[in-house]
Amino acid sequence: MAKTYSIAIDGPAGAGKSTIAKRLARELGYRYVDTGAIYRTVAYFLDLWGVSPKDVDGVNRYIDELTIGIEYDGEGLQHMIMNGMDVTADIRTQEISQKASLVSAQPKVREMLLDMQRDVAKTNNVIMDGRDIGTVVLPKADVKIFLTASAEVRARRRTEELTAKGQKANYSQILREIQQRDYQDTHREIAPLKMARDSVKVDTSELDIDQVVAEIKAIAGKKIPL
Ligand code: DC
Repeated sequence: MAKTYSIAIDGPAGAGKSTIAKRLARELGYRYVDTGAIYRTVAYFLDLWGVSPKDVDGVNRYIDELTIGIEYDGEGLQHMIMNGMDVTADIRTQEISQKASLVSAQPKVREMLLDMQRDVAKTNNVIMDGRDIGTVVLPKADVKIFLTASAEVRARRRTEELTAKGQKANYSQILREIQQRDYQDTHREIAPLKMARDSVKVDTSELDIDQVVAEIKAIAGKKIPL
């Protein structure tokens, strides 16, 4: 099999991972894999069944009923298919963000999703973003980036993003939710969010998108042919 390259981008919620990864994937001709969307699909499924994301027995009972598909459209955008239904848009709510963060702490869920993520990287050049890509999913990734920004900057960006879409947004509430997710994602027992030892930290607090893309390309260019 031909050698494939992988770029892992980990970091806290709202650091700009998906925006940056999508752009890089387009420019480099790589496949973008949004692993958060897979956890969101699990959370959405359990929510439909009224199972709390903290309910270990409930999750174990229902999870085998779930089949997850990942498909890519003509523009390379990832679609999440839950038991045959496209739920790509449905999983993007604040409620599902919190539930995905909680359900992702469950061992059974993480175990079920591990091979699915690794399989995509076996046959494609990938840019994969998440929380544990450089540490657990692809520990041998060619390039590892830890993308971060202060919680305040992340909350401000999210508030502006929602306002621009004409949706209601309360900065203080968004900041609280981001801090809560940071806490949950870094304190869970299995595969918590943390920087891999061989990862390069990029703080986006003072950078715009073009600057972040340029910085990551410079880091990646030292390790892989771009
Ligand atoms: O990246 P996101 O906000 O869409 O992710 C939603 C939640 O999923 C996040 O709070 C924690 C979990 N997640 C994870 O545990 N591991 C990953 N690789 C990606 C996401």
